[in-house]
Amino acid sequence: MITVYGYAGEPSGQLRDAVASAALVVGGQRHLDALAVPAHLRIVLGRIGPAVETLAALDPALSAVVIASGDPLFYGVVRRIRTAGLKCRVVPTVTSLQLAFAAVALPWDDALLASAHGNDPAPALAACRVHPKVGLLTDPTVGLPQIVAATAGLGRTYVLAERLGEPDERVRVLTEQDAAAIGEIVQPNVVLVLAHHPDDPAALGEQAPIAGGVRPTQQELS
Ligand SMILES: C[S@@+](CC[C@H](N)C(=O)[O-])C[C@H]1O[C@@H](n2cnc3c(N)ncnc32)[C@H](O)[C@@H]1O
Repeated sequence: MITVYGYAGEPSGQLRDAVASAALVVGGQRHLDALAVPAHLRIVLGRIGPAVETLAALDPALSAVVIASGDPLFYGVVRRIRTAGLKCRVVPTVTSLQLAFAAVALPWDDALLASAHGNDPAPALAACRVHPKVGLLTDPTVGLPQIVAATAGLGRTYVLAERLGEPDERVRVLTEQDAAAIGEIVQPNVVLVLAHHPDDPAALGEQAPIAGGVRPTQQELS
């Protein structure tokens, strides 16, 4: 059986127990190190493709643990695992974007959640120009500098949330000017792009029956 565990900050007792009896543990280096997974049981991500092939070849009677950041169902590994025809159980934690919204006490039911991580960033960057509350997954090539460049002149407020849940977590609320002049940025991080400062009541937005606020049109996103 393959079980995919979300990870945010501290590993849960349940995850520690699962790792202790697993025949194979797949995860990022920092997650495997935090759980002291023995070298012979590890598959370090990297690319998910080879890991999925190894999971597919494993005797189904043995237990495999996959560790993924945040919610593995949100821009996570579960889609790839299931697309390969493998069954899995999922034990999620909250996504990094939920942690970022929580850090500035902002509801996110009216936010647009987007990914600039490992895919075409253009729609996510376009969404930041037209939607008042966007949460973005980033990667080392598309992050705060590219987001600021894409939204230049709009007077947005940026929340840069680095290494959420880790001992060196850092959350900064930045004006456009501050964000444009920022120095070192640590991975992993997410960015919230807001039309209002999080302390402004206007940033709370409206609760609506359909989450995500007003959806941009395809034309606005292209
Ligand atoms: C492949 S996506 C996975 C998202 C994940 N499933 C989630 O729910 O947060 C990887 C991206 O998530 C964000 N991320 C993951 N862990 C993070 C953390 N601890 N702090 C800040 N951002 C994080 C970063 O933008 C990172 O590049």
